[in-house]
Amino acid sequence: MFSGKVRILWNRRVGSSYYKIGLKCGNALINARPGQFVMLRLDGRTSPLLRRPFSIHRIIEGEKGIEILYRVVGEFTGRLSEVKDGEWVDIMGPLGKGFSLPENIGSIFIVAGGIGVAPMLFLSTHILDKKMAGSTNIKVFLGARSKEDLLCRDDFLNLGLDVMITTDDGSEGKTCLITTPVEAALKEKRPEVIYACGPSGMLKCLAGIAETYKVPCQISTESVMACGIGACLGCAIEGKDEGRYLHVCMDGPVFDSRDIRF
Ligand SMILES: Cc1cc2nc3c(=O)[nH]c(=O)nc-3n(C[C@H](O)[C@H](O)[C@H](O)COP(=O)(O)OP(=O)(O)OC[C@H]3O[C@@H](n4cnc5c(N)ncnc54)[C@H](O)[C@@H]3O)c2cc1C
Ligand code: FES
Repeated sequence: MFSGKVRILWNRRVGSSYYKIGLKCGNALINARPGQFVMLRLDGRTSPLLRRPFSIHRIIEGEKGIEILYRVVGEFTGRLSEVKDGEWVDIMGPLGKGFSLPENIGSIFIVAGGIGVAPMLFLSTHILDKKMAGSTNIKVFLGARSKEDLLCRDDFLNLGLDVMITTDDGSEGKTCLITTPVEAALKEKRPEVIYACGPSGMLKCLAGIAETYKVPCQISTESVMACGIGACLGCAIEGKDEGRYLHVCMDGPVFDSRDIRF
């Protein structure tokens, strides 16, 4: 695991409150797996004190670094949005357990809600790069509150993937929750695995659907994190066995949906 300062390659606005930041990490994160995350802190700032977790959105090949896709929601992300190219940020990672990728898999559903799309581009490119047998059959389901919150559609299309879009307000794609077309597609043809990241309501619904159709489902979860390395126990969520807690930073953030109590 790497811990240290890295230079900011770019920090660009990509939507109303969304940004992409490129970080030059050399080879430090070259072995990161899709679904793993990093903890960030702003160089030379004492507030906020604690690092914040962010998924790896993309590996930047030529520049040897990573890109993070983030939404401005509070103090840290607000300050992060103001940092300039060439400044430095403190990074620790890669952390946690990512998505597990079977060697041979024919059909995959990737389901992302809102900013939950962040780790899914890395996952898609990784699967395609590995040239897993038959893995070209990847269907991507992108759900968002509205058009302004719809991210990465062109990135997935440029990878040659099928993309289904829904928005809550109907400003783009179908007007429904993303779980609706997922279930419709499952009725037609079941994939071998579903990978998902998004709001907990979406994950809960998807876990139920996956159970009904008997399809394995791996979900990337979120919780508030203080340390990111298993020391503070602040990121605990309840496992399926009553009274058994899982730590998102060490046991996850990616879990089999059957292992979580929603
Ligand atoms: C494993 C993991 C990966 C993540 N990846 C990304 C990513 O790729 N892109 C991205 O934009 N965000 C991601 N997040 C969420 C991100 O860490 C928070 O948005 C960030 O910490 C907020 O910091 P802040 O100081 O700006 O906001 P704060 O002032 O700390 O919080 C603002 C609001 O957001 C809520 N909040 C803060 N952190 C979380 C959290 N972890 N889960 C749910 N609600 C939270 C707070 O309760 C509060 O309501 C990830 C979180 C985890 C655990
Ligand atoms: S964040 Fe500290 S134990 Fe998980």
